[in-house]
Amino acid sequence: MAAAPALLIVDHPLIQHKLSLMRARETPTGPFRQLMREVGLLLGYEATRDLPLEQTEIETPLETALLPVLAGKKVCLVSILRAGNGLLDGMLELVPSARVGHIGLYRDPQTLAAVEYYAKLPDDLAERDAILVDPMLATGNSAVAAIARLKQQEARSIKFVCLVAAPEGVAQVHGVFPDVPIIAAALDRSLDAHGYIRPGLGDAGDRLFGTK
Ligand code: URA
Repeated sequence: MAAAPALLIVDHPLIQHKLSLMRARETPTGPFRQLMREVGLLLGYEATRDLPLEQTEIETPLETALLPVLAGKKVCLVSILRAGNGLLDGMLELVPSARVGHIGLYRDPQTLAAVEYYAKLPDDLAERDAILVDPMLATGNSAVAAIARLKQQEARSIKFVCLVAAPEGVAQVHGVFPDVPIIAAALDRSLDAHGYIRPGLGDAGDRLFGTK
């Protein structure tokens, strides 16, 4: 099997269309949330593309056949709070039996450093493939902190899924963790002086929860 690319931009037309609607300033909270859920599901499809299969006997109405089913179903979706929950909802529709972890991080407004305030993960992460979700890969500080936490708990494998990545964030994550594939709907131009992605979509958490 070919190795997963370090950075995969999923250029499916449905994802690109939905992301452009999300970027529009006038898109209100309800539709924004629905679009985030839909794009989460579509990105989840890519993120789970290499899940292993095993052959099992299934009785169709006509005969018994050896057919592929997921081997083990050992996936853990991990949301970086709070905006990660928007992508998580869509991915859970796709993989409803996945375990779910949460990591709470906030950005220190002065230093932009990631500060952990909460972490709850399944005990058996060492037997699970972790898919970490956060809509915006900006400085990369939150992603690096969350990946470090998953590595500390010995996750079997780790992928990072976001809507929009900044080149600075990709460089930061791959500078520290070159083995973690990043799956994104778009790679934007750059970060601005406040750590926002340009052109971006604004503050993903505020837009998802209507807090501003
Ligand atoms: N977080 C966001 O929500 N938006 C950005 O542009 C950067 C970080």
